[in-house]
Amino acid sequence: MDATAALADPPGDAAGRAAKAGSGAASAGDVAIALDKVSKRFADGTVAVQEISLAVPRGELVCLVGPSGCGKTTTLKMVNRLIEPTGGRIILEGEDVTKADPVELRRRIGYVIQQVGLFPHLTVAANVATVPRLLGWSKKRQRERANELLELVGLEPSQYGPRYPSQLSGGQRQRVGVARALGADPEVLLMDEPFSAIDPIARARLQDEFLRVQAAVRKTILFVTHDIDEAVRLGDRVAVFRQGGLLEQYDPPARMLGAPATDFVADFVGMDRGLRRLAVTTVDAADLEAPPVVPASASTSEARSLLAGAPYGIVVGDDGRLLGRVSPAMLDGSSGAADIAADLAQPPAGVVDVGTTLKDALSLMLQHDDGWVAVTDGGRYVGVLAPGSLHSALRRSVETDATDAAAGPTSPPPGQPGATG
Ligand SMILES: Nc1ncnc2c1ncn2[C@@H]1O[C@H](COP(=O)(O)OP(=O)(O)OP(=O)(O)O)[C@@H](O)[C@H]1O
Ligand SMILES: [Mg+2]
Repeated sequence: MDATAALADPPGDAAGRAAKAGSGAASAGDVAIALDKVSKRFADGTVAVQEISLAVPRGELVCLVGPSGCGKTTTLKMVNRLIEPTGGRIILEGEDVTKADPVELRRRIGYVIQQVGLFPHLTVAANVATVPRLLGWSKKRQRERANELLELVGLEPSQYGPRYPSQLSGGQRQRVGVARALGADPEVLLMDEPFSAIDPIARARLQDEFLRVQAAVRKTILFVTHDIDEAVRLGDRVAVFRQGGLLEQYDPPARMLGAPATDFVADFVGMDRGLRRLAVTTVDAADLEAPPVVPASASTSEARSLLAGAPYGIVVGDDGRLLGRVSPAMLDGSSGAADIAADLAQPPAGVVDVGTTLKDALSLMLQHDDGWVAVTDGGRYVGVLAPGSLHSALRRSVETDATDAAAGPTSPPPGQPGATG
């Protein structure tokens, strides 16, 4: 499979993450960054990165994950030429970055380093306006931009803008770091373990906020992390590296967890990858069960025959809306004149929308005795999610491209720079 084919699948099962909504399938023309057999051997002979090829679709967030020293930071720094590759090519929007002016290049690429690196002697607003100031924007435009970005990352500009970095919490500093990297509206963001210094609870909140920001700005992002949970939570795709700068697998999170390409990846994603998959796979109409549907206008005897021995049926209005559930026992002893929806049906124990993660749906299912939850799409009933549907959904999440799975590692092999358009 080449770099183009690597993009033929839709990105990660969106996992109810707002940022993923509508990211759609990428085609080759949508590639923003392509690494084509990129290698780095340092002067002392250390091989940090070995012939890595991967294509990053425009507007997607790709996580680079792997153990310490496997070449993640080196890969990131080669994209903005803080480190020069010793082999291969890096194509940004169709242009070979090694031929670009490095200063010009870095204005197109925002960079968030670990520990944020805010300027301590500048206010938060001035930190955020760093690149606009370097670009010679007017004072007014710098101020407006700083305010806009602080709002975007959830920091009230009048309150936080005048403060100094030392007067912020660690999480707030991280947000300022993200705002600063977005300063001049770069096409691409490179982020190196931006949340690693934050405690787990604050980190989860920051990740959510970050996904919300990404939903609004839809940048192409390369995001380095040690943490597989963070990678599958944030990434549309995940690239797993191993020691020696080798790319083991490059896939959407659900596939990474559901069909690890190598033993190394299986080990790295961990024993509980089955549970993790629930968080990155969404409820899809195709996986649902279809118990009998009883129209709200049915008589009790019609309802009884529609149920035909089934333990329950779903009561649906003329407009397709979910009105409730009905069992043979609920119909028993009622007169023919009863109104099914109003008098006999009971509300379904749990209702989720398509697009909810299996994890959230399962959690709701476990809170009730029914053993299933109804699924709606904008209020319209579409089916019932039962334990068997979970299996079907998980199977689907890895079978979207069976040939890839069968072919083993799905990292795009060499070649196909033309794919970058
Ligand atoms: N300037 C250098 N000269 C020689 N070797 C280097 C240099 N910079 C990095 N390396 C080596 O290259 C390898 C990859 O380093 P890199 O910083 O890319 O790893 P990483 O995956 O980001 O690790 P971590 O998760 O610990 O940040 C390491 O073995 C490192 O020691
Ligand atoms: Mg690093």
